[in-house]
Amino acid sequence: MTTTLITGGTVVNSTGRVLADVLIDGEQIAAILPPGSTLLGTDLTASVDQVIDATGKYVIPGGIDPHTHMEMPFGGTFASDTFETGTIAAAWGGTTTIVDFVVQYAGEDPLTQYALWQDKAAGTCAIDYGFHQILSDVQPASLDAMDTLVGEGVTSFKLFMAYKGVLLSDDGQILTAMQKAADNGATIMMHAENGSWIDTVVQQLLAEGKTDPVYHGISRPWQAEEEATHRAIMLADYTKAPLYIVHVSAKQAVAQIAGARDNGLNVFGETCPQYLYMSLEEQLGAPGFEGAKYVCSTPLRARAENHQDMLWQALRTNDLQLVSTDHCPFCLNQKDMGRGNFAKIPNGIGQVEHRVDLLYQGVVTGQISLERWVELISVTPARMFGMYGKKGVLAPGADADVVVYDPNGHTSIGLGKTHHMNMDYSAWEGFEVDGHVDTVISRGSVIVDGGQFLGRAGHGRFIRRDLSQYLI
Ligand code: URP
Ligand code: ZN
Ligand code: ZN
Repeated sequence: MTTTLITGGTVVNSTGRVLADVLIDGEQIAAILPPGSTLLGTDLTASVDQVIDATGKYVIPGGIDPHTHMEMPFGGTFASDTFETGTIAAAWGGTTTIVDFVVQYAGEDPLTQYALWQDKAAGTCAIDYGFHQILSDVQPASLDAMDTLVGEGVTSFKLFMAYKGVLLSDDGQILTAMQKAADNGATIMMHAENGSWIDTVVQQLLAEGKTDPVYHGISRPWQAEEEATHRAIMLADYTKAPLYIVHVSAKQAVAQIAGARDNGLNVFGETCPQYLYMSLEEQLGAPGFEGAKYVCSTPLRARAENHQDMLWQALRTNDLQLVSTDHCPFCLNQKDMGRGNFAKIPNGIGQVEHRVDLLYQGVVTGQISLERWVELISVTPARMFGMYGKKGVLAPGADADVVVYDPNGHTSIGLGKTHHMNMDYSAWEGFEVDGHVDTVISRGSVIVDGGQFLGRAGHGRFIRRDLSQYLI
């Protein structure tokens, strides 16, 4: 078993920061020690297999991205990252755990789909991974499957209030799934947009000849997000199921979540980097077909309405609890499927590699504290999705998932392919980031260091998750 000592860094957890050395023994953290500690009078650096000098750098728990879609069959195609390429890209960006989604479309058997996704991921992931399960048409068999899946460590289920005929569950189906979750302790994750409302506006816009990417955003107004968020909260209040709203982009949806939390409900929300930085006017409304790169749902919101600042504020005040990527990458030829009809553009942005850096910009600009950064990218995802203790913390006994982050480094998400995701562009091209992921350690193995990927596909293990550790 390899022993590693990370020396001279500032160890940051959500509760504070301290100058300390981190001793790793095999796959786990053995000790957090005062800098320069000795063992029976002997310099520790002499007795370990490897030493990583983190002087002037932050030593943080590895990033946990609880919302990714590797190889997702969606919009008539597949998300372009495989579990292998996507987890390698994640590692480059300082993420050491993902939670991906098993997809069950209408008519499919949830447990058969679960077995399929286990097969896809087995032996291919470079970092540890867990699964949520998507349920579309919630049938009696789906409710039984929810109990089985919780027993397997799949303790959260995503339902959709949009994408009629594809993924949408009606309110009665959502109700029964929530009743089951209230019973077995699982968390319901909700794609909260009013699908019927949106589908009607889409048809109206297309009939008027409005086919450009920007109309994707215009067809999915904030009112349709707020209404669905409110409805999901009412169903959660009635059933007492824990509810987690995914990819929140509208400030009005945040207000719904905040109100529910003020009323003592187990209601939570995440946002994603694009909603913090990008807008309907600038990116989605870019000339020609350029906006297709930024088509995702919920959509980018108008900067004139100030959603972006309100999302940052919600992250500070814990009205929103974390930031995932909703990584769902498509190449340009896949986005081309929607030339002449925005409704056919595959929905999704690829960014699993950039979340840790992009959120660190919030520290640089004073939007969030250093500790809140660590909380948003690692601690809360671990607690929310039943992994805390093993993941999301630097403490003895935890998995040695560690990132050495250089606040004086720089990351250019340059033009051309400077990233490692399986995409022929990046929505973040041209973004300059203060800070740099220097070293990434996954369960004691150095997988990124010195600008090189040193890990391997198949290193990642499936995580059987507990129930949420974040409930009131
Ligand atoms: O546009 C998105 N969000 N694509 C991924 C699927 C989903 O709804 O999360
Ligand atoms: Zn969604
Ligand atoms: Zn998603």
